[in-house]
Amino acid sequence: MEERTTVIAESELRAQQEICQTIKEYWQSRGRTPTAFVDTYGCQQNEADSERIRGMLDACGYAMTDTEEGADCIVLNTCAIREHAEQRVFGNVGALVHTKRRHPEQKIFLCGCMMGQDHVVDKIRHSYPHVDGVFNPHQMWRFPELLYNVLKNKKRVFAVEHSAGNIAEGLPVVRQNGLKAWVSIMYGCNNFCSYCIVPYVRGRERSRQPEEILEEVKGLLAQGYKDITLLGQNVNSYGKDLGLGIDFADLMAQIAELPGDFWLRFMTSHPKDATKKLFDVMASHDKIAKQFHLPFQSGNDRVLKVMNRHYDSKQYLSLVDYGRSVMPDLTLTSDVIVGFPGETEEEFEDTIKLIERVRYDALFTFIYSPRKGTPAAEMPDPATKADKNRRFDRLVETQNRISQEIHGAYVGKTMRVLVDGKEDNLLTARTEGGRLVRFEGPDTFLGQFTHVKIVDHTTWSLVGQLPE
Ligand code: 5AD
Ligand code: SF4
Repeated sequence: MEERTTVIAESELRAQQEICQTIKEYWQSRGRTPTAFVDTYGCQQNEADSERIRGMLDACGYAMTDTEEGADCIVLNTCAIREHAEQRVFGNVGALVHTKRRHPEQKIFLCGCMMGQDHVVDKIRHSYPHVDGVFNPHQMWRFPELLYNVLKNKKRVFAVEHSAGNIAEGLPVVRQNGLKAWVSIMYGCNNFCSYCIVPYVRGRERSRQPEEILEEVKGLLAQGYKDITLLGQNVNSYGKDLGLGIDFADLMAQIAELPGDFWLRFMTSHPKDATKKLFDVMASHDKIAKQFHLPFQSGNDRVLKVMNRHYDSKQYLSLVDYGRSVMPDLTLTSDVIVGFPGETEEEFEDTIKLIERVRYDALFTFIYSPRKGTPAAEMPDPATKADKNRRFDRLVETQNRISQEIHGAYVGKTMRVLVDGKEDNLLTARTEGGRLVRFEGPDTFLGQFTHVKIVDHTTWSLVGQLPE
């Protein structure tokens, strides 16, 4: 593996743009507008990548469609985080044989984290001959060239070389939502948590230049975006590789000082790198949403050590306490894994205790899934599937009760919300902490901030009313 992170040269990106133009002309000469379907699995980072893939397709003259049936180009942007995600992808790729039979000119591409694993690429190469192209996250910026090769040479392409990672600035973007935008501030991960595949498929941590990020956010605000989420696998280590003396808290402060009415958020954070300075910056800027996603993964110190997390439950709790001391209304969410190899019943109880102590607003709960090539996949794992399922159910029950109680406490309060859609004649909106609120109101509220009084709640959402 090469050690250095590279910024893709402008001349190389320009060459890709020229290929987009050639593809556009190819379709113009055939007298029709081609269609493309991009399907995204997994996390927001993948969603953000898909916005770039749509951007490149748009530059090649493709119109987006929301079904694979009849699309001239299909791109599946895959996720490798758990086995279940991979199985879904394999199932859906298998089904595309039939779609392609009905539309033989169709070109099928697979990309994303699964394509960063050699054994997956081999399987696609040998068992899924209807797939025309494969590229891993490091090669995404070359998509126009790959598409052109497939269209012109009618041969399969595999762009799957491993690298420490790169940064491609200025790729075209097509965002699907005009209100909320994700902005990647860094890519990759250096942490190598023992269960996680991400560092193997997304390469080393690399930060974008602060001025590139600021320009992108300014552009989004000028277009009317009101909810901006800064993205990275571990945003807290932003800037460490740049040597500019700017850390994540500084970047947040700079963005929060931009003019305009908007909420600024971020994800994801690693507790070992979250600083008091960041909490202080959050507390002192109104535009920074008082929401923190701080994955703890396990409440047991032995398990945390074997997970290679570099903090213990005491350090984690002291961070949470500090955050709440400077922001009493802080919304806290987290990720947790049950059934990590060797986790005992008593160790699992520590996870329940931590949840009861912190009382998260919401939790993303996962059953451990072995990932080939990670250290945890080689560890003895004596707990049965039934044991793990039982722990999982207990975890979900505990959290649901807490979420209900927290939601109940909102009733009677008036909250500021951003109205983002309409479902079944009710407006849908999000609070600053990201809670879903439904209420009756005129369509003129769509895309606007407003205040609603919370009058009822369910486990998952709040019911609001416009003030009299
Ligand atoms: N098994 C189960 N959950 C996992 N996660 C990451 N890798 C695995 C795995 N192998 C979870 C972690 C992480 C979230 C994005 O996915 O909780 O924070
Ligand atoms: Fe995976 Fe850990 Fe990196 Fe998150 S911090 S992406 S869990 S290795």
